[in-house]
Amino acid sequence: MKIADLFKVEGYGVVVTGGASGLGLGFAEALADNGARVTMLDIDPERIAQETQRLKDKGYDVRGAVVDVTDHLALDKAVDEAAALYGKLDVVFANAGIDSGPGYLNAWVGGNRGRNPEGAIENYTDERWQKVIDINLTGVFATCRAAARHMRPRRQGRIIVTTSLAGLTQEGVIGSAYMAAKAGAAHFMRNLALELAAYNICVNAIAPGFFVTNIGGGHAHNPETQKTVAAHLPMHRVGWPEDMQGLALFLSSPACGYITGQQIVIDGGWGLGTAD
Ligand SMILES: NC(=O)c1ccc[n+]([C@@H]2O[C@H](COP(=O)([O-])OP(=O)(O)OC[C@H]3O[C@@H](n4cnc5c(N)ncnc54)[C@H](O)[C@@H]3O)[C@@H](O)[C@H]2O)c1
Repeated sequence: MKIADLFKVEGYGVVVTGGASGLGLGFAEALADNGARVTMLDIDPERIAQETQRLKDKGYDVRGAVVDVTDHLALDKAVDEAAALYGKLDVVFANAGIDSGPGYLNAWVGGNRGRNPEGAIENYTDERWQKVIDINLTGVFATCRAAARHMRPRRQGRIIVTTSLAGLTQEGVIGSAYMAAKAGAAHFMRNLALELAAYNICVNAIAPGFFVTNIGGGHAHNPETQKTVAAHLPMHRVGWPEDMQGLALFLSSPACGYITGQQIVIDGGWGLGTAD
């Protein structure tokens, strides 16, 4: 292979869960802009219709479908349909995820962030815990399973899981189910990487820090929040979906043919500690 072709994903068949918004939309756009054929799956009918049309208008080969990753039959069917249409499945992003509601702390940063009783363990409901696990952990499992069914026979593929810095370090402002789900997704990813390595399938994860998306009702769009968090981050700015696109392309491409079971943190240095 020519070195110039290392990042070529032209003609690839790609599926992205949670593809209608934020990071997943950024992944879809990055791949489609490089000539891949992308199916975006999302639970939000309006957003998926709107974003699919927007990307089509840009000339991209994209399609969208309304799928809830907790509906495993519907998920399998949607992945099968995409693979049948493309004649193969090269890349799957297991990305769909939700915020878990309040954690035990009140604010992202600061010396005295205050305790939030709503996020305290004594008040954490089974429903809240289960919903986060169902989407952020079991949804990842079901997406990877659907992908592997197509990739293993071809002995080729890339699976990319969106985890979180929150699966590596503790963050009290985020509900604890999120920590557990993301750490679980990362460890599951490594086990799957081990299982599929002999089949030339690379399984890796992207662990974002603080990114401006629509998660949690879009709280990160608040300029005050961005300013406060940015001041605390070593790179002095929050992340945007565009900051992810190079990594998404790399992990999808032939350039990433000998890297598997890795979780790449992309956080402007947040996980390193306090710089200033
Ligand atoms: N934004 C951040 O700072 C950040 C940090 C770390 C990790 N993440 C992770 O990134 C991933 C993408 O989140 P985002 O920040 O882009 O949020 P987002 O809300 O902008 O996008 C998530 C998308 O997933 C979809 N979705 C939610 N539940 C679904 C379900 N059951 N089935 C199918 N689709 C579903 C939503 O409709 C939405 O379009 C998530 O896994 C999230 O946990 C985000």
